[in-house]
Amino acid sequence: MNTQIRLLKADEIDELVNLFNVVFQKAYYGYPMSKEKFLQRLNNPNFYKRALVISSIDKIGGFILANTAKRKSKWYTTNKGYISLIMIHPEFRRKGFGKALIEEALNFLKKKGVEKVQIGFNPLTFWPGIDLNWDKAISFFKKLGFKEKRMSASMVANLETLKVPEKILEREKKLNKNKIFIRPYLKNDREVLLNFIKKNFTYGWYEEVKSKIQKVKVGFTGYGLNLNTLYNPKSVFVLLKEEKIIGFSMFSENFEKKELGHFGPIGIQKDFRGRGIGSALLFKTLKEMKDRGMLKADLWTDYGGYQAKRYYPKAGFKVVKKWMEMALSY
Ligand SMILES: CC(C)(COP(=O)(O)OP(=O)(O)OC[C@H]1O[C@@H](n2cnc3c(N)ncnc32)[C@H](O)[C@@H]1OP(=O)(O)O)[C@@H](O)C(=O)NCCC(=O)NCCS
Repeated sequence: MNTQIRLLKADEIDELVNLFNVVFQKAYYGYPMSKEKFLQRLNNPNFYKRALVISSIDKIGGFILANTAKRKSKWYTTNKGYISLIMIHPEFRRKGFGKALIEEALNFLKKKGVEKVQIGFNPLTFWPGIDLNWDKAISFFKKLGFKEKRMSASMVANLETLKVPEKILEREKKLNKNKIFIRPYLKNDREVLLNFIKKNFTYGWYEEVKSKIQKVKVGFTGYGLNLNTLYNPKSVFVLLKEEKIIGFSMFSENFEKKELGHFGPIGIQKDFRGRGIGSALLFKTLKEMKDRGMLKADLWTDYGGYQAKRYYPKAGFKVVKKWMEMALSY
């Protein structure tokens, strides 16, 4: 094969999108990929990128996208790099092309001064990690020195069959007696809610909640079934104890496929956890999604915790995908 590694050309996007759909046809998320969604990732102005192809006489045999943030921000440090996507056409596998692409990408990232290269969730990636079913991909990265870091899961619940258990309805009444109420988010809650998140949860959540309490179409979110997500303040609940916020939950709609919804995040103030309040809020939110016409809810969470093992399954959520985050440190 007469092949070379070179920079991606602007007129090759259609072929690249086709390659994506050949390589990831069995993938659950992001398939089929459209040109628009692909370009959104490729051209994010906040990141440096190296987009390389394996080019042969008649086709593109592979692609890699490596990124690092241009500026330090609340979200990103400039000492981290990302392999946002790598794909090799089936006919070009086991010939050393994947390794060659990674080496080129790592050279680029090293020159940019990164100390750590991650494969997993970032604003440009197409998935929150490597699908655990792609064990060949995991072995490939291990061979190149990447280590397994964190496992996360995508879970899905069927809302058509969702029934709020009698026990939960009773629990909500009991909570009300104790002056704990769930109500829809109102505009005036904004500041108090954001302060609550800042105090009780991570910075990532603060940013996520901040963007989700405004009405905005966000396109490809990367971790949900929702490839066309509508954030909406009407999709937020707050949990109050004597008018003080002690918890919240939210979801987003898919503006193309109305039957799909993305759940989360949800959180309860630490000293109120483990008393059944979270379950009441979870069911209330899912019931609202169902009432709005959604048939399925999906979410993304850590795989190892009680959330994936005990909490979400109570509402019918089942793990549909497991993802492995990997990293290489210098
Ligand atoms: C997840 C969260 C919202 C659950 O709220 P909660 O009020 O603590 O949950 P509940 O008391 O209703 O518990 C529901 C079930 O979850 C499981 N569970 C809850 N906390 C648990 C814990 N610490 N360890 C093990 N299981 C637990 C139990 O199975 C429980 O049911 P049971 O009481 O019948 O056994 C809350 O723990 C929280 O805010 N955690 C931090 C934020 C977070 O992780 N959010 C989800 C991220 S994807």
